[in-house]
Amino acid sequence: VRRLLVIGIGTGNPEHLTLEAVRAIGEASVFFVVTKGTDRDELVALRRAMLEAHAAPGHRVVEIADPPRERDPADYRATVRAWRAERGRRWERALAAELGDGETGAFLVWGDPAFYDSTLEILDELLTRGEVAFEHRVIPGISAPQALAAAHRIALNRVGGAITITPARRLPETAAEDTVVMLDLGTAFAAIEEPGVEIFWGAYLGSEDELLVSGPLADAGPEIERVRAQAKARKGWMFDTYLLRRPR
Ligand SMILES: C[S@@+](CC[C@H](N)C(=O)[O-])C[C@H]1O[C@@H](n2cnc3c(N)ncnc32)[C@H](O)[C@@H]1O
Repeated sequence: VRRLLVIGIGTGNPEHLTLEAVRAIGEASVFFVVTKGTDRDELVALRRAMLEAHAAPGHRVVEIADPPRERDPADYRATVRAWRAERGRRWERALAAELGDGETGAFLVWGDPAFYDSTLEILDELLTRGEVAFEHRVIPGISAPQALAAAHRIALNRVGGAITITPARRLPETAAEDTVVMLDLGTAFAAIEEPGVEIFWGAYLGSEDELLVSGPLADAGPEIERVRAQAKARKGWMFDTYLLRRPR
């Protein structure tokens, strides 16, 4: 059978690769890289450096281009269904053509595959469709929420408390006492008006450009907006994660 390894590679620091991930990278002979056309050169370069350091000589890299996605389609559900089916066909074709029986392939997943990443869902869809057979295994990596907590030297929860992790667009409906926000295209925290909320913010976590700001939201919020805008203008892109802590 074909073997696939889904390897979490951390969020930007090459030293966050676990020993299990390093060993898994060394086991694979084919690396599948999903490209979106909006890929950041720095992130591509980091993956390439990891392969140079840890992959076996003679390994191959196979790119799978994501189909273009219509952002505001008239029929949202039908468009998404068609897009997902096309994406599945491309993965199927790549696996069937590039990975032989008995070979090991790998997907390098940013952070950990458990957080806002579609790799595992797509592989499950392919197994259900049954056109291409494979076994797969997941190697966990350090996710952005973990990198955030370590950088600020905090735990994400308080004693006995719950943590909610949410994409920014669903922040307004989240009432949790400790909330980790990901996938923010702007500054969703700026809409929070409750008194006493603290924020722990981190951008480009794990990389040389890491930025950290924390404090009462009323003071730190405007500072983050300024620092974020400057960094985004300088680098051309932004990756940030933050914890919002409501008073108990
Ligand atoms: C598509 S999700 C992937 C998350 C990833 N699987 C993980 O485990 O962290 C991308 C989001 O993760 C967060 N993120 C990823 N890398 C980050 C980094 N180096 N610094 C801050 N946030 C990061 C941001 O919220 C970004 O919008």
